Amino acid sequence: MKIVVIGGTGLIGSKLVKTLQEQGHEAVPASPNTGVNSITGVGLADALKDASAVVDVTNSPSWEDASVLKFFETSTRNLLAAEAASGVGHHVALSVVGTERLLESGFFRAKLAQENLIKASSIPYTIVRATQFFEFVKSIGDLSTNGHKVLLPPALIQPMAADDVASAVGKIALGAPLNGAVEIGGPERFRLDELIQLDLAARQDPREVITDPQGRYYGIKVTENALLPGDAQR
Ligand SMILES: NC(=O)c1ccc[n+]([C@@H]2O[C@H](COP(=O)([O-])OP(=O)(O)OC[C@H]3O[C@@H](n4cnc5c(N)ncnc54)[C@H](OP(=O)(O)O)[C@@H]3O)[C@@H](O)[C@H]2O)c1
Repeated sequence: MKIVVIGGTGLIGSKLVKTLQEQGHEAVPASPNTGVNSITGVGLADALKDASAVVDVTNSPSWEDASVLKFFETSTRNLLAAEAASGVGHHVALSVVGTERLLESGFFRAKLAQENLIKASSIPYTIVRATQFFEFVKSIGDLSTNGHKVLLPPALIQPMAADDVASAVGKIALGAPLNGAVEIGGPERFRLDELIQLDLAARQDPREVITDPQGRYYGIKVTENALLPGDAQR
């Protein structure tokens, strides 16, 4: 099967391309680094020729509110139009568990806009909503740091390894479109404040985590269960 991975040079994308190629599929990494740009459209039509599925694992270079919204809206519109022109039968996009509960953040407003464009399009689709990647645990602590203290709420979090995300997205890309969303999550739940404390201790980082119900996750308030997948999670 020919599967084009838009963002195929990124953290998830490069792992996804590798796992699909190892299974004998023609997985094509498409990103500015390979001459394909979903914002300008450069290289898109050529890359999508004879593709059965397109997987979108792009991320915006800027997370500033207006920029990230413009990125996901423009990129998604361009991809869906190019897929319609090429007769692609499955659009798979990676999104985030709990997106609709995190809309205080411009990043999540942009991810919701991306999901809504996909749902409204004529292309059969599957939206894969993953929990936070273990690879981003350090950055969660960094973003909530004030001097030597890290202020975090006692919210629950069920992170996934990027390898597992790529493997799950690959299986879904090879299957039939669900025309809906699936949630994927890691094997274990942690309290966010405790997870970051474990991470700092493992790195011998002297910063101290302070549990603060008013503390922020990536700059926004979260309720105890906002980051958790639902009962139908994989
Ligand atoms: N972080 C989390 O915990 C988490 C959790 C769930 C879901 N997600 C979602 O997972 C997705 C992938 O994240 P990631 O960490 O793997 O991303 P990443 O490592 O930052 O990679 C981003 C990819 O997007 C590509 N890209 C940027 N601009 C592009 C453009 N104009 N046209 C085509 N490709 C472009 C980059 O290409 P170049 O290498 O050529 O620049 C790169 O391949 C994101 O949408 C994110 O929302 C993240």
